[in-house]
Amino acid sequence: MPYAHITGWGISVPEPVLTNDDIAKMVETSDEWIRDRTGIRERRIAREDQFTSTLAVEASIKALEVANLAPTELDLIIVSSSTPEYIFPATACIVQDQIGATKAGAFDLLAACSGFVFAANMAAQSIRSGSIKNALVIGSETLSRFTNWKDRNTCILFGDGAGAFVIQASDQPGGILSAVMRSDGSGADSLTLLGGGARHPATEATVHEGKHYIQMDGKAVFRFATRVMGSATKEALELAGLTTTDVDWVIPHQANYRIIETAAKYLKLPLEKFVINVDRYGNTSTASIPIAAVEAIEKGNLKSGDKVVFVGFGAGLTWGALVAEWTGPIPTKRHVYPKQYRLFARLRSLVRRALRFIEGLFSRREL
Ligand code: UT7
Repeated sequence: MPYAHITGWGISVPEPVLTNDDIAKMVETSDEWIRDRTGIRERRIAREDQFTSTLAVEASIKALEVANLAPTELDLIIVSSSTPEYIFPATACIVQDQIGATKAGAFDLLAACSGFVFAANMAAQSIRSGSIKNALVIGSETLSRFTNWKDRNTCILFGDGAGAFVIQASDQPGGILSAVMRSDGSGADSLTLLGGGARHPATEATVHEGKHYIQMDGKAVFRFATRVMGSATKEALELAGLTTTDVDWVIPHQANYRIIETAAKYLKLPLEKFVINVDRYGNTSTASIPIAAVEAIEKGNLKSGDKVVFVGFGAGLTWGALVAEWTGPIPTKRHVYPKQYRLFARLRSLVRRALRFIEGLFSRREL
């Protein structure tokens, strides 16, 4: 049975920064309150011309560069997002087309802030089964588009960004060792975006009622999060045959500094073992785990052989944890340049669109 290794990583965060002081000009709040209650100082907000796919594509190209893997070698692309570009087509298909992943199956996965853990586990399982070799897993969000900038309960929390992992088959032991995925739909009401789906299709009334904005019972989510972060971590470690004493790093979903602190206490692990960057990006939902992971990797914190736990929770309710033994890219002498495939991908996309158009003309005549 092949092992599934994380061999490439990349992030993309928009440049525009929105500070707590900026938000204090929009709603009744203060930098002090936000920092005390959440640990957040600032977050990134996507420019008008940046979309969930834009950030996803940038993060993906970087991840492919690290893995030294051509987009044409990808078998699978999963985009985890709660803010997909459309209900359909899947954002993953837009990414597939733009990076030139000619033979990859692509789909979106919606498990809110737990989505990246779920998606990485799905990719790892497909690799371990032998059905695929190379997967690209992306967490990408433009939450600012669904944020009610008049609601101080939510607008202080969220930010935009994307992170991507390349996951590859290898005979070398290690890589993704175990995962748990859990859900509890009885808590669905705690965190919602109700408008625009089949139950509340977009109408003037849904817009007027604010149904296209994120709504949250912050206290309920807080209580749930502090319960499940620790338990999911322990369960996933047990499945991998490990205990908390084996853990080198925990990379948690970045929602609130106080939630991470509580999880650290529950697990009896020093806070220094937790990668935390919620202060600079806020809550980027499914993108928060890969963004934190990539920053830790780029600082040189993750060493070969380190045992790393990725743990998330979010709307659904959903939660999950994944344990990996860190190895890094698969050594190879060849050099591929994934960025160069973008030009090829654009041309290919144009040609295919033109052919589809011509095909349409002829088939109309046949009818
Ligand atoms: O990815 C998962 C997504 N969500 C989360 O993880 C969110 C989890 N929840 C939280 O992080 C916290 O519940 C919040 C940060 C959202 C809120 O913190 P809290 O300590 O639970 O505050 P609270 O809602 O209990 O509010 C305490 C007080 C209230 O005033 P009173 O009733 O005590 O007079 C609120 O009206 O703070 C007030 N308040 C604010 N004050 C200033 C609520 N929001 C704000 C604000 N600025 N932005």
